[in-house]
Amino acid sequence: MEKLDTGRLPKHIAIIMDGNGRWAKEQGQDRLFGHYHGVVSVRKVVEAATEIGIQYLTLYAFSTENWDRPQEEVSGLMTLFVDTIAKEVPDLHKNNIKLQFIGNLQMLPKEAQEALSNAAQKTAQNTGLNLIIALSYSSRWELVEATKIIAQKVQNGQMALDEITEATISQNLTTKDFPDPELMIRTSGECRISNFLLYQLAYAELYFTDTLWPAFRKEDLVKALMEYQSRERRFGKTSEQVQTN
Ligand code: IPE
Ligand code: IPE
Ligand code: MG
Repeated sequence: MEKLDTGRLPKHIAIIMDGNGRWAKEQGQDRLFGHYHGVVSVRKVVEAATEIGIQYLTLYAFSTENWDRPQEEVSGLMTLFVDTIAKEVPDLHKNNIKLQFIGNLQMLPKEAQEALSNAAQKTAQNTGLNLIIALSYSSRWELVEATKIIAQKVQNGQMALDEITEATISQNLTTKDFPDPELMIRTSGECRISNFLLYQLAYAELYFTDTLWPAFRKEDLVKALMEYQSRERRFGKTSEQVQTN
């Protein structure tokens, strides 16, 4: 951790927490066992991110597509979300963490919706790490919703067509209060985005690791950050331009 350049940390890290099922299989256990152990990794990574001084951490916990998993796994995950929130919120609050949720939350069971909204309310005034959980989230869903909001404003005459800019799109996404992630990490060796933050990741550095999510620890986060700091972010410019700036 001492090797990290504290002046060049990303403000926002987004993580696709993948590989719980495979990790459980390796242990000869069922998939839910993997999800339960995934919560331990969440706790460790949140602690590490706080310690390192990251301002925003977005964790992909459940995608819109994940609703199509076997009913037993889906309901097991819903129970896990509710129980974990109940158990973790006091500590998160004590650590000044602001918990937020993005996604099509109306699809969640009522009990889960209430747990999330209570947790968000309780931590709303906190000023430390912004912990954002993407639940029942998909980027295409989010973009469709944003498009509808903007189209409605134009139709109502609240906004002219020419006033639509990139900022208009950003300001109508569920992530409107957060800067775009500079670093996106995916565990488990899969090299895809799986409908996560498509617009927001336009210029993120992507980092893929074979480590399965339940095995992911602080050292793995530090390794990803070291790799991030070794890259030259050019944003379309030449290397010479970037170095003289
Ligand atoms: C990620 O692990 C957690 C969720 C998608 C809820 P997986 O459950 O996708 O685990 P693998 O990819 O099958 O190993
Ligand atoms: C992406 O993982 C969603 C989450 C980690 C919550 P999946 O395991 O569902 O993605 P695919 O099916 O491999 O693309
Ligand atoms: Mg997976």
